Amino acid sequence: VLIRRTLWLGCLFFLGACVALAQEAGKSYPADMAERVQACTPCHGVEGKGTNDAYFPRLAGKPAGYLYNQLEAFKSGRRKYPPMNYLLAYLTDDYLKQFADYFADQRPALPEQSPPDVSQAVLDHGHVLVTQGDLDRSIPACVSCHGGALTGQSPGIPGLLGLRASYISAQLGGWRYGTRTAIAPDCMQLVAGHLTEDDVRAVAAYLANQHQPADPAPSAAGSYSLPFACGSQPEGGSKP
Ligand code: HEC
Ligand code: HEC
Repeated sequence: VLIRRTLWLGCLFFLGACVALAQEAGKSYPADMAERVQACTPCHGVEGKGTNDAYFPRLAGKPAGYLYNQLEAFKSGRRKYPPMNYLLAYLTDDYLKQFADYFADQRPALPEQSPPDVSQAVLDHGHVLVTQGDLDRSIPACVSCHGGALTGQSPGIPGLLGLRASYISAQLGGWRYGTRTAIAPDCMQLVAGHLTEDDVRAVAAYLANQHQPADPAPSAAGSYSLPFACGSQPEGGSKP
């Protein structure tokens, strides 16, 4: 009996140590997470890498803060897509945070691209808007917030690689027409509000045709000072 009790205590001690170690490594999701996310893989792909379906977004490697904000938005109904709204309605915030941390840690290669269905001139227009913006029309460069390599910026700005053109234009349309909102001040609503239909088509096609970056990790908080404030990137994401 005594031996068993000692073992049991040892186990408790060990578990505590394991949890502490896991937290130190930044992994705040349980070991069976890979099984739990099987509810998500039919639409978001293995490890959240995306699928061939043009409308199901890649989740892998986006900052955990961004993913959590989206899960919270679907849960509360602020962002609308009925299957996601139902799926998340009864999950706790802790559980949502674990999903966000899990997908933020995944680094699968970008999915295969389909050849662009737009002209080179359209891709060139997209390239200019993404990398330089159009200051005469108050359009900031997308890279000024999403990062020079377009891999996003912690904690709240997502990478824009590995998404299909139709998903990107649908999201920009959502902001232009007010069906997608982010935490106020909603900087993407300002950005999208300055884009024409042609601009949206061009940036979506350009972004969907980018290749795997050398380093897929999001830029650290504060790497880029934002041209204007975003509620989902508190204090411009500057380092504490
Ligand atoms: C039936 C298909 C489906 C299932 C199952 C599903 N999703 Fe989604 N998910 C979507 C679609 C479609 C969107 C984009 C919706 C929109 O904005 O219109 C989305 C959006 C998201 C986003 C926001 C992505 C971004 O880049 O903004 C996150 C995060 C997410 N899903 C996580 C999950 C998690 C976690 C699960 C499993 C618990 C899951 N999803 C299950 C279809 C699905
Ligand atoms: C001022 C900073 C800023 C600029 C400039 C900016 N973005 Fe964003 N973008 C954000 C933030 C913050 C989010 C996350 C919003 C949220 O929490 O829902 C975002 C989200 C997005 C998303 C949603 C991605 C997804 O997975 O659903 C797309 C698409 C996007 N931006 C495209 C663009 C494009 C294209 C440009 C350039 C024309 C641009 N952004 C310029 C800050 C910015």
